[in-house]
Amino acid sequence: CGIVGYIGDKDAFPILIKGLRRLEYRGYDSAGVALINSSGNLNVYKSKGKVDDLVAFCADKNTTGTVGIAHTRWATHGEPSSVNAHPHYSQSKNLAIIHNGIIENYASLRKKLMEKGITFRSDTDTEVLVQLIEYIQQRKNLDLLTAVQLALHEVIGAYAIALLDKRTPNQIIAARKQSPLVVGIGDNEFFLGSDASPIVEYTDKVVYLEDGNIAVIRKGEDLKVVNIQNRLQNPEIQTVDINLGEIEKGGYPHFMLKEIFEQPECLTNCMRGRVNVDTDNVVLSAVIDYKKQLLNANRFIIIACGTSWHAGLIGKQILESLCRIPVEVEYASEFRYRNPVITSKDVVIAISQSGETADTLAAIKLAKENGAFIYGICNAIGSSIPRSTDTGSYIHVGPEIGVASTKAFTGQVTVLSMLALALAKEKGTISNEAYLSIVKELHAIPQKMEEVLKLNDRIADLSRIFTYARNFLYLGRGYNYPVALEGALKLKEISYIHAEGYPAAEMKHGPIALIDSDMPVVVIATHNAMYEKVLNNIQEIKARKGKVIAIVTEGDNTISRIADEVIELPDTIECLEPLLSTIPLQLLAYHIAVCKGKNVDQPRNLAKSVTVE
Ligand code: G6P
Repeated sequence: CGIVGYIGDKDAFPILIKGLRRLEYRGYDSAGVALINSSGNLNVYKSKGKVDDLVAFCADKNTTGTVGIAHTRWATHGEPSSVNAHPHYSQSKNLAIIHNGIIENYASLRKKLMEKGITFRSDTDTEVLVQLIEYIQQRKNLDLLTAVQLALHEVIGAYAIALLDKRTPNQIIAARKQSPLVVGIGDNEFFLGSDASPIVEYTDKVVYLEDGNIAVIRKGEDLKVVNIQNRLQNPEIQTVDINLGEIEKGGYPHFMLKEIFEQPECLTNCMRGRVNVDTDNVVLSAVIDYKKQLLNANRFIIIACGTSWHAGLIGKQILESLCRIPVEVEYASEFRYRNPVITSKDVVIAISQSGETADTLAAIKLAKENGAFIYGICNAIGSSIPRSTDTGSYIHVGPEIGVASTKAFTGQVTVLSMLALALAKEKGTISNEAYLSIVKELHAIPQKMEEVLKLNDRIADLSRIFTYARNFLYLGRGYNYPVALEGALKLKEISYIHAEGYPAAEMKHGPIALIDSDMPVVVIATHNAMYEKVLNNIQEIKARKGKVIAIVTEGDNTISRIADEVIELPDTIECLEPLLSTIPLQLLAYHIAVCKGKNVDQPRNLAKSVTVE
């Protein structure tokens, strides 16, 4: 979900709406806004659907006021509806709240409040919070800040909240625990956001609130930050350098396509200062600073979710192969609940684009408690995961807005490759010759990606043929097996066609039963050690009349004679193949979804940043 807030001299409504649009990728099943106007009225407007629906709903409403908060929602408790949308009023309608996260003990709090005669309008855990705050405020005749502090003592769960009280119209109270919140400091005005993207066009000065912090934001005063015990905190004001172009579409019809096309530049940025071809060296500051912890590790455990988990599967192969160290790859959501064996000799690598995924954060906490050393691979600068790790490497691919992850995936694979190279060199597990050839090839990847992107029109054409499909199978082996998983995930996410990724040789143990002339099978069959084996798998599919879309290496004229469609990639070193072979699969998913008229940037039911478990 996304949070925006404004307090200053300007009209808040347009700023809040613009901010919601910037955050819409975080959730988009309903949206709402609360404003205090010059007559002291607190108006709340909300609607089911997108920010555009909210704007239409507000067309004939009084949207004046220079103080306001707004929210775009991804439902957890209660179906998407205008009643369940945020902001939520308190019973007296003096207070309005917006909230990200989950209040775990909301049912017992709700019951208690109902027994005191409080009636609820929605099914949400958020309304429980605002009613609790008001109940405490009224019972003890307290100011809003104190009531919030007392209420938060009773609350179990994760939250980022912002509150208005119409009796103190020049103030927003905002608090965070495990859910991100950023305050932007302008000239006599303040902004609030669940990340910096709604803030950066007004100011580059921001404060990332820490867990347990409460911001007291008042017009004409300095920002005050306290904790739940009312102890004054000393927040660090940071400068953010996101430029506006990075969070706008820049001429592309969708963020997803823009982000696919940005990949060569993103990887150049990711490798800048790290892959040095003049000295033939890969340098990662984390490997220099924490050499001992990394080299002494008995094993690496990679934890991640979704696309980041797929990057982890590729990381496992390259780390094991170059560094000769055992690597396990775990879904963070499974790892955190299954009492895993973790020791102080383990290094946990947490991979996350957003740096906010609740399960990944919880898995880090568990690993830390058991003495593991934590290395983060994240994109969002200053987000919760990089702040909770011992060290790490940002992927530096710029903000990713499209909900289906693309450039973050290739950025993650690139960092994992650099990590494997840097460690292998320190450990002496790689020959100088192999090291040099991979470094050189890594350097050449952005240029080769440009070549792959030239296939866009061809892939757009062939996508039209396959929009009929109800199922897709994706096959790959070795380094390309996780690519098959990622290709299937992309298609599922944005086109709603069921797709499965499989290790090619496993096909005969199950999925082959599904193959008939209606079944498209995407096979990654590049020219590597597995080529002959994958070729046999293609024969098996053709023998059952399946439709084969083959991703091959340039100049392959064997598979082109058997497959129905062939996409040719430049040759590269096997361990770096995913950086190229992923791109046609991203484009295929994109074009099929566009042909089917789907909203590729905001697919149904998904969210970019999953801050709930
Ligand atoms: C969500 C997103 C995915 C992402 C996953 C993990 O499901 O829609 O694109 O891969 O979360 O997110 P993270 O930010 O931790 O990489």
